[in-house]
Amino acid sequence: MISLQPFPNSFNTQKHHHPKNKPKTSTTAIKSLLQYNRKPQLAGDTPRVVVITSGKGGVGKTTTTANVGLSLARLGLSVVAVDADVGLRNLDLLLGLENRVNYTLVEVLNGDCRLDQALVRDKRWSNFELLCISKPRSKLPIGFGGKALVWLVEALKDRQEGCPDFILIDCPAGIDAGFITAITPANEAVLVTTPDITSLRDADRVTGLLECDGIRDIKMIVNRVRTDMIKGEDMMSVLDVQEMLGLALLGVIPEDSEVIRSTNRGFPLVLNKPPTLAGLAFEQAAWRLVEQDSMQAVMMEEEPKKRGWFSFFGG
Ligand SMILES: Nc1ncnc2c1ncn2[C@@H]1O[C@H](COP(=O)(O)OP(=O)(O)OP(=O)(O)O)[C@@H](O)[C@H]1O
Ligand SMILES: [Mg+2]
Repeated sequence: MISLQPFPNSFNTQKHHHPKNKPKTSTTAIKSLLQYNRKPQLAGDTPRVVVITSGKGGVGKTTTTANVGLSLARLGLSVVAVDADVGLRNLDLLLGLENRVNYTLVEVLNGDCRLDQALVRDKRWSNFELLCISKPRSKLPIGFGGKALVWLVEALKDRQEGCPDFILIDCPAGIDAGFITAITPANEAVLVTTPDITSLRDADRVTGLLECDGIRDIKMIVNRVRTDMIKGEDMMSVLDVQEMLGLALLGVIPEDSEVIRSTNRGFPLVLNKPPTLAGLAFEQAAWRLVEQDSMQAVMMEEEPKKRGWFSFFGG
């Protein structure tokens, strides 16, 4: 039994959009997902400053930043990923770059080093750079806040090699000062949630705070989805999540043990060969992020044995 559940053609999803009102899916829509044979068209002004946030901790913000970031770099776009998780940073570990971080933004602002010394170039993709805000287990100096990140964005714009296409900010958990600092320079947000009620409640709260801060372009990634549990009605479906949050869907990432394996190896999942389901899902999310409203995301809910998750990715 196959049912096609089309998501809106653009990210201009209205709040509490009812599935009945959604446009009908056609084979063209499905084909539009098979876009590996072309380059994505970058929409919007650069740098696109995107904060990856969630409210609840441990739902996959850093995993998303690493995998979407490297996917963007593989698509030929220049990316600076900023680890804004003060004291508890781990984006460097996920990327396998921990030994290369000598300086952080705090040292740059103190005048102890230049910005380019704090930017760590990825070993595999030279158009991907990492910047950590501070040293592990350190505290931010008094007065360090959103303005520091606004300065950073301006400094990256003025760099000799040109302004990056994307600045991705990996936000810390919670909604305190670290969160405010991380969202300040952003003009778009990717909200990561898992399909459980605690994560959704925090995501809804964060959506309100982002909107208050003037960030209206908010897309969500639903992470750690298990079709077997959805079928057994033990987990909320992606449509339920979309109904509850009323946000445009950027991606649906299945629960995948490869994610944990790749985290521990410091080798982001999207670089795995052959690609895994979660890796493909992160790549798709990166595509949608680049093209903004020109893609049609199509979700098919069906028995996993027949076509499973590949259906979502147009495979
Ligand atoms: N799709 C997935 N399948 C399986 N495991 C996952 C998936 N996504 C994330 N994880 C695991 O969940 C854990 C938390 O992920 P991650 O560090 O990305 O979350 P976070 O939101 O950044 O956490 P924090 O709030 O502490 O910064 C990691 O061990 C990661 O490997
Ligand atoms: Mg994190």
